[in-house]
Amino acid sequence: MNLPPRLSFAFLPTPIEPLPRLSAHLGGPQLWIKRDDQTGLAGGGNKTRKLEYLLADARAQKARAVITGGAPQSNHCRQTAAAAARMGFRCVVVLRGEPPAKITGNTLLDDLLGAEIVWTRDASREAVMQAVYEKEKAAGNDPYLIPIGGSNTIGASAYAAAVEEVADQTGDGAGFTHFCFASSSGGTHAGLAVGAKALMPNTRVLGISVDEPVDALRANVARLATETAAFLGLPFTVTPAEVLATADYVGGGYAIMGDRERETIRLLARLEGVLVDPVYTGKAFGGMVDLIRRGALTKSDRVLFWHTGGQAALFAYADQLV
Ligand SMILES: Cc1ncc(COP(=O)(O)O)c(C=O)c1O
Repeated sequence: MNLPPRLSFAFLPTPIEPLPRLSAHLGGPQLWIKRDDQTGLAGGGNKTRKLEYLLADARAQKARAVITGGAPQSNHCRQTAAAAARMGFRCVVVLRGEPPAKITGNTLLDDLLGAEIVWTRDASREAVMQAVYEKEKAAGNDPYLIPIGGSNTIGASAYAAAVEEVADQTGDGAGFTHFCFASSSGGTHAGLAVGAKALMPNTRVLGISVDEPVDALRANVARLATETAAFLGLPFTVTPAEVLATADYVGGGYAIMGDRERETIRLLARLEGVLVDPVYTGKAFGGMVDLIRRGALTKSDRVLFWHTGGQAALFAYADQLV
């Protein structure tokens, strides 16, 4: 694949660790975890990989400010703020809703990392991001707009490259039958689907939705994967029917923590000393555990869970976790 230029601030390759105590507890497939929660910058997570490519593009375009947006506890915004600080860029993050009474978790970190926070209040996030872009441009700050989740062809390329990383790390992909991970804006999912189609065609790439209905997620991932494959010079497309996804574990909705997430966070913490978060990885890991308990993933499977980070949000949910 013809990867675009990238900066180098992520700790790569991230380790692949077995989860022997959890595998034995569940009596199902052999489980491994890809520690993309340890990608560095200010707390790790999947966005660091994407930002290596996105900020290389920003720098090539002579930007001096980056603008992005997300939910109040957006890990993407926090890592964008960190990467911008590292690069000496100004950073504005547009967060959905009203300013909270108490600043905590990722929002606190956005502030510590020097990002300006703009709250959307009643307006749409896209409209506010565009307005901020125009304002920064008029002020002569040479802004660069990063879409929600960093999920465009440049950002998704990072996850196609991450499959190459797993292939290099394990020799032959370690015979992984499945990749499982949290999917939302689709960049991680699209990149992994493209990388696997090119390099590990026997591995099934199962995205567990944390918010989107399954048909919308499949359509979005197929579109982005097809565009990313073309961007990387790969000779294939990805159809919605090829995109493996489930929305059975969205539960109460985006960022709503229920019993499944709460139990999963404790299970993984106490059996393996690994922390997952209430919004993304706890939901996805809980979904994967349920698929194992229901026999959809079996003893003969070898499953790699991509830990995409998010632990900073744990502190914003402290009241609901204890
Ligand atoms: C911790 C974590 N996991 C997974 C995701 C989903 O990744 P994507 O937006 O590429 O679907 C995000 C996105 O914000 C995230 O912060």
